[in-house]
Amino acid sequence: MEYLKIRQHLERLPKADLGFFPTPLYRLDHLSGELGVNLYIKRDDFTGMNLFGGNKVRKLQYLIGDALSQGCEYVFTFGATQSNHAMQTVSVCRRCGLKPVLYLVAIVEPDEEDLRANLLLDKIMGAEIHLVKLLPGETEADAEERSVQMAREHRKRLEEEGHKCYEVPMGGASPMGSVGFIEGFTELMEQSEKLMGRRPDYLFHATGTGGTMAGLLAGRALCGRDTAVISINVSHKDEGYPMKCESLANESLGLLGIEPLVELGREACTDLSYYQPGYEIPNEGASEAIRLLAREEGLMIDPVYTGKAFAGMLDYIRSGKVAQGSDVVFLHTGGATALFAEKEILGHIV
Ligand SMILES: Cc1ncc(COP(=O)(O)O)c(C=O)c1O
Repeated sequence: MEYLKIRQHLERLPKADLGFFPTPLYRLDHLSGELGVNLYIKRDDFTGMNLFGGNKVRKLQYLIGDALSQGCEYVFTFGATQSNHAMQTVSVCRRCGLKPVLYLVAIVEPDEEDLRANLLLDKIMGAEIHLVKLLPGETEADAEERSVQMAREHRKRLEEEGHKCYEVPMGGASPMGSVGFIEGFTELMEQSEKLMGRRPDYLFHATGTGGTMAGLLAGRALCGRDTAVISINVSHKDEGYPMKCESLANESLGLLGIEPLVELGREACTDLSYYQPGYEIPNEGASEAIRLLAREEGLMIDPVYTGKAFAGMLDYIRSGKVAQGSDVVFLHTGGATALFAEKEILGHIV
């Protein structure tokens, strides 16, 4: 489908203007020379509006657009205590005059006397924060489910008092949120054609809740499938994950009035090889990637998401899974605030 036509479909939905677009795309000259590929970076960490942008802003443009069009007053969302998504949600809520309420699971327990990184930013922005500590024997998934139940009870109380509330799922992973990455993928294709004269061979990115991947794959289905999307997992996923992402992608297309086009078996390449030992637990691959990008290009990535994804991409290139001379784009999805998070999350980078 032509870019103009895709944009016309996107215009059907209410959208809040929350960032700076298009985000920059440029070649990493030192690393390209070292690795033998044309390596480009798409700076979605620059989406704005506060200093600490990231992939969630694209999703939030549509989610907050939806909340505003429904006349909501409160926005509830979820994540870990150092969630980038939660922090960006608070930031855009403040910009739009909405009241942010966070239910955050303490996977790494914060020191309340020495708040760090995103949790500190959430507090500075005055979000209403509910910390959900893991109960003895409780898994992270159980605690996440409990946090949703607690939030829904809270929301019910507010609605009984006449306040309209909007719920954004963890990571903004809903069909409405993924629409932001249909737009993001389209933007990248247009930009690549202008900058490189062609579309890239590969697009690498970190995948967590799957909303970004779903939008990228839906965008790819619309624009043409020239670019292989390689999604590096940052946490354990069960067998239900691909189907969840396929539904997200196709429901996003549905919101634009387009029939389902994404078949995950055919489209997706997700890789679980680079996140161990676990979510928010550092590994040496990510630490090496953080040092490499910082020392060769003066650029910051993070230990939880982009560091692990970049390490995966380096392995694909160094092992020859990506052929020499290929055009490769790394989608920088943000998250560098984690460089200032608790030591357990940061690990030993230097
Ligand atoms: C920096 C960063 N990169 C990537 C992701 C993964 O995005 P998604 O949850 O849409 O898969 C996240 C999600 O929290 C993130 O914060």
